[in-house]
Amino acid sequence: MLRRVLGNDEAAIKRVWEAGGADALRILDIACGDCREADALGDAFNEMKAERAPDDGKPLDIQLTGIDVRAREIADANRRFGGKREDAKTGGKREAEFLTGDASKLDQHKQLGDGEAFDMVFLRHQNYWNGDRTWEEIFDQALNKLDPDGRLVITSYFDEEHRLALDAIENLGGELIVTERNKESRALKDAPGKSVDRHVAVFRKKEA
Ligand SMILES: C[S@@+](CC[C@H](N)C(=O)[O-])C[C@H]1O[C@@H](n2cnc3c(N)ncnc32)[C@H](O)[C@@H]1O
Repeated sequence: MLRRVLGNDEAAIKRVWEAGGADALRILDIACGDCREADALGDAFNEMKAERAPDDGKPLDIQLTGIDVRAREIADANRRFGGKREDAKTGGKREAEFLTGDASKLDQHKQLGDGEAFDMVFLRHQNYWNGDRTWEEIFDQALNKLDPDGRLVITSYFDEEHRLALDAIENLGGELIVTERNKESRALKDAPGKSVDRHVAVFRKKEA
């Protein structure tokens, strides 16, 4: 799904082609919980590179940072996905670090508040419905963390929450590139109308 929504986005693809070594692809996963998407993110970008990149022999290296308020989930994420590892197929390296913190105050976070910019910022299953003010602050901080050519990717569990999040991010200075209903989305048990990564949308920052 990620490959499909980014598949026509030449600037995003170019960045994936070029990332490697000291210039790794910088990914920030906000409100990542235990970040069960860590491996899938790496795989999606490796596949994107394999599909579209010139055969330059340079594997894709990824620097993944995740943040969530829930310390227990962050400890799980660090245990399962933290540290350095190498992709068995491509030889690409991934270094991952997961931090506990309030994403509505990223600019005050001691490790993330330094103005570092990211190529991709993810908000998987954003939770606008459960606190619009907090989530507007999180969206604002997410946009502020983007490199000028970076992309913000959000996913949503249900239609109305997705629509509200799109409006909120556009009002905060995000420019919607694409939004897509995910046909492969798996229904959530006992939650009619909700499904996993039901909608996926990609934004860039509007030019000032
Ligand atoms: C619906 S869950 C999504 C978790 C994960 N991204 C996933 O898709 O499985 C929403 C997440 O937002 C986190 N969250 C809520 N408020 C937050 C805040 N102010 N700062 C950081 N994380 C927050 C919660 O702890 C929770 O893990």
